[in-house]
Formats: sequence, C-alpha cells, structure tokens
Amino acid sequence: MTTFPNGFLWGASTAPHQIEGNNVNSDWWAQEQVTPGMELSGDAVDSYHRYREDIQLLADAGLNSYRFGIEWARIEPLPGRFSKAELAHYRRMIDHCVELGITPVITLQHFTTPLWFAKDGGWSAADASDKFERFVTEATTILDGVEWVATMNEPNMQAAIMTAMKRMQEQAGGQWQSPTVEADSDEDREQASRNFLTYADPTISRKFVDIHHAAREILHARTDAKVGWTIAAGALTAAPGGEAKLEEIRYGKEDIFWEGSRGDDWVGVQAYSSQEVDATGLVPHPKRPDNTLVGTTYRPDSLEMAVRHATEVTQGVPIIITENGIATRDDAQRIRYTDEALQGLHHAISDGIDVRGYLHWTLLDNFEWGHWEPTFGLIAVDRDTFERSPKPSLAWLGAVAARNGIA
Ligand code: BGC
Repeated sequence: MTTFPNGFLWGASTAPHQIEGNNVNSDWWAQEQVTPGMELSGDAVDSYHRYREDIQLLADAGLNSYRFGIEWARIEPLPGRFSKAELAHYRRMIDHCVELGITPVITLQHFTTPLWFAKDGGWSAADASDKFERFVTEATTILDGVEWVATMNEPNMQAAIMTAMKRMQEQAGGQWQSPTVEADSDEDREQASRNFLTYADPTISRKFVDIHHAAREILHARTDAKVGWTIAAGALTAAPGGEAKLEEIRYGKEDIFWEGSRGDDWVGVQAYSSQEVDATGLVPHPKRPDNTLVGTTYRPDSLEMAVRHATEVTQGVPIIITENGIATRDDAQRIRYTDEALQGLHHAISDGIDVRGYLHWTLLDNFEWGHWEPTFGLIAVDRDTFERSPKPSLAWLGAVAARNGIA
C-alpha cells in the first residue's frame, strides 16, 4: 500500500457557474444567449438549491474536502451593491461542510464575472483590480474559519477564454469552441494550438498577477486563510528541436503565473493531459482511440509532471491538486486514470515535494463551458429531475481517502 501524508485533503472540486444554474447576472450567461454553437447553462445541475445533498454524497463516500466557488455575479449583481442574502447562502455552504467534517476550499472567482464588470471593460479596464478588491473585501466577511482560499481559478485559461470570446464577436458566423475542449477538425485543432501564445497576452497575464497579489494582501489582513490561486498546468514537453520554443511557450502560458505564486501560502495545480512543443509551437493533441471526450490525450502521468514543474518554478510553494480528472463515459477508465495519476503524485511526494491534498475534477457531471457532452463527474445527474447517481468512481475515491493510500 502507498500511503499519503497525514492530514491529506481528499475531495472533489466544482465551480459555481458549472453546477448552480441560472447565474443570470454573469457575463457567461449573457454570452451563452448570443453565441452560435454554445449550449446553455440554464438550470445547470441546480446545485445552488441542492448543495446539501451534494456535499452529503461527498461526505458519505468518505471524502474529507470540497472545493467550491462563491459567485461574484450573485454577490455583487450591480456595481457596489452587495447581496447579504447571497453572502449568507455561501456561508451556509461553508457551515454545512464544517458540520459534516468537510474542509472547504473556496475559490473567489472561477472564469465568470458580473455582467456589469464585463460590460465595463472586464479585466482590461483600468480599475479592474479596484473592483475585484472591493468584492474580495466583501467576501472576507463570510470566510471566518476557512483555511484554504484561492483568489482566482486558472488565470491562464481565463485569458484564453477571453480571447476565444473576443474572436467569436469579431468573426460573425463562427462557431463557439471552448478552449477547454479540443476542436474536431485537424485544421481547427492546428490553429487553436499554434495560436495559443496569442491567447496569453502578457499584459493581461501580468495584470492578473498584480490583481492576485492585491487580493492576497486583503485576505491576509482580514482573515486567517491560507491564500493561493490555481493554475492550468500543461505538462508540456519538447519534441526534438522544440526545446527553445518549449521555454518560450511555457513561460507565456504558465510560468508567469507560477512565478506569481511565489510568496503565496499554497498553489493549486490543475492537470489533465500533456502536450508537445516543436520548433514551430504547441503540437495539437494526436487523435488516438483513447482520447478523452474533450479531445485531449489520455495522460495520467501529466499530474506528476505538472507537480514537478510547479514546485520548481514556484520555488517550493506547498501544493494542493485542485483539479485532475478525465472527461469520459467509461467510469472504469476514470478509476484507471485517477489511480495512475495518484501513483505518479505519490512518486513526487516521495521525492520530498510538499503536496497537501488531491481534489478531483469534478464532483458532478456539469456544464463544460458551452458543452454538456464531456462528463468529468464522480456523480451523474439527470438534468430533468436533477436526481444524483453516484458512479463507482466516487466510492473508489472515497475508499482511497479512508485508507489515505492507494492499493
Ligand atoms: C477548469 C474547469 C473545467 C475543467 C475541465 C479547468 O480548465 O477550471 O472549470 O471544467 O478544467 O475542462
């Protein structure tokens, strides 16, 4: 048996817009209504009302931690107008976790923003940081006793999503392609990969780092939380001749953000697959029979690769795996993937890398940013009745948690 460190967090992650439903004051909701090819989040899986049941299922399985987000667009539906009722809603979620012995890991911002913020220039606006800081300050009023807080989810992926949305607006007639889902056609895959650097506009990336630091300062001053943010890790490798290009691409796509974690209390590593870089750029995921439902290659080893890279660039900031999982209809494959990923994670821990927890993406099948087909969940949900059906992988991960180890 392979044992993990004492007090290791074992759990699952979610994001508000993907599970709650009717996030009507957000930029995403508005975008969904006008974007060709984008499926609607609608009621999502109604976790806004059913969070008690969801957290109970997680606890009953034997997991000890739940990562969820608080939704800025609900808490501040109009500039400077905060909803006490929505803040109380999220506090009830925190309290429910604590009652069940579940350690909450809270994300303050997961891809979505209030619509008014987006209309006012979004993250590119000169006063974007001031607006976010005002929200973070308000959010601290419900964070008493919360140990782990992430300011933002995947600022690097967020930059990519912003660019994809901008392109949609520019190219009339274009179909929505979420950056979290690979395109079907070889041409589109090629284009998306090769253009990835243009997604990560360095001005916006540096701005995200500054905004994160400002939020961290507020959280440190007003709470006892350990503060970090979560980064999309590409587990990139060099194809022969691609060594220099790898460094360049990896810096723009993620290292600038890992560097921004230095001085944080922890960093969230989010890894799903691995990709090569050749002399001309990022190589599209090869199409293989076992590719996932989001078109990425089956690479459970990406987790260990990502953790090793993260610890190197952050210079040893403690790590929580805040996302790792697979979009598949085959739950046995999910278990296989997670088992292999955890073996790799354990190698990294055995080499002295400081990892505090593993939170699987994701608890519930959910809205994958404009697509409903890719299912990453440990629990299936009937989208008409909202009935939850735990998959064998939930019990499997719960048993890993109970043993604090893999067989
Ligand atoms: C995001 C999630 C997303 C997941 C799977 C991450 O990029 O944080 O919101 O659903 O990956 O694609």
